[in-house]
Amino acid sequence: MLEKAVIDRIEEELSKYMDSYVEWVVKIGNYILSSGGKRLRPALVLTFSKLLKGENEERDYPIAVAMEYLHTASLLHDDVVDGAETRRGKISANRVFGNDTTVLTGDYMYANALYLFSIYGDMDMIKNVSDAVKRMAEGQLLELKKIGDIDITFDEYFKILEGKTAVLFASCCYVGSALGNGTQEQKESAYRYGMNIGLAFQLIDDLLDYTADEKKLGKPVCNDLREGKITYPLLSVLKDMTPEEKEFVKKVIRDINPDKEHIETVKNMVKEKGGFEKTIDKAKALVDEAVRELDVFPKNEYFDQLEKLAKYIVEREF
Ligand code: IPE
Ligand code: IPE
Ligand code: MG
Ligand code: MG
Ligand code: MG
Repeated sequence: MLEKAVIDRIEEELSKYMDSYVEWVVKIGNYILSSGGKRLRPALVLTFSKLLKGENEERDYPIAVAMEYLHTASLLHDDVVDGAETRRGKISANRVFGNDTTVLTGDYMYANALYLFSIYGDMDMIKNVSDAVKRMAEGQLLELKKIGDIDITFDEYFKILEGKTAVLFASCCYVGSALGNGTQEQKESAYRYGMNIGLAFQLIDDLLDYTADEKKLGKPVCNDLREGKITYPLLSVLKDMTPEEKEFVKKVIRDINPDKEHIETVKNMVKEKGGFEKTIDKAKALVDEAVRELDVFPKNEYFDQLEKLAKYIVEREF
């Protein structure tokens, strides 16, 4: 959705703050930053700012990049927590460089974001973004607590999504609107737009974990089940299962080293009971809600881009 010149400038800014005298920072930083990534979060910051005619690129880019640092740090940490083997089509940093150096490089990126906000942001933005980062940690922790729990509720599941993924999207939109000098009403609507597309985004991530082509996705599939994580596709069909089926699912998600065949069986149960469609429907409903939040903004080309981005989230294949 971004023009090439914009992407190039984001990439340039991203490498600028990773020039430590410590070799690991440079190596691991480059490794993850140069392996692609959709750059959705900086895109949201810049698009909201432009939507409101923010014209201070000297400020907008560092803040947009700060948001990508927060996201990238969370990926480095997430892959350690999830014991992932691939990320963005490559062997994940934790597997190449080890958990210790990967976690610490993630910390360095968090600090980069902090630094950029202290120079280019203001108190309103800093308040919003620090709340987001806190809630991201809470979401990831809540998720760990619910591993293997077949009684997880929809409320708990959405609380996890809100924290681990959606709140950062929300904050990107809030901060972008703040950069464009939006009104309080606009900043809050942008926040809710971001929250809803963020929830939809993670729902589709959870769906793709079941359905995607591993090569295209660039990260492991069926990892959530293997790790004992019950996500929307399965959660939405649990009530339609017989006690025996439920017992089987419970055994699989609690197994530390589940059989490939058993994983496949659960996947087929979810598919046959309509769990994939239910997930898409839920994501679509959230995207519709998100788009309604745009009503308070001027209609221009950036408005159209935000509408498109919301729709893309449900249609994406990686
Ligand atoms: C992956 O996010 C982590 C989730 C929140 C699901 P993205 O799918 O945006 O990752 P990249 O940056 O494009 O690799
Ligand atoms: C995404 O959770 C949340 C993050 C903050 C990275 P996942 O564990 O589902 O993300 P992927 O699927 O590994 O990208
Ligand atoms: Mg993961
Ligand atoms: Mg995870
Ligand atoms: Mg995932």
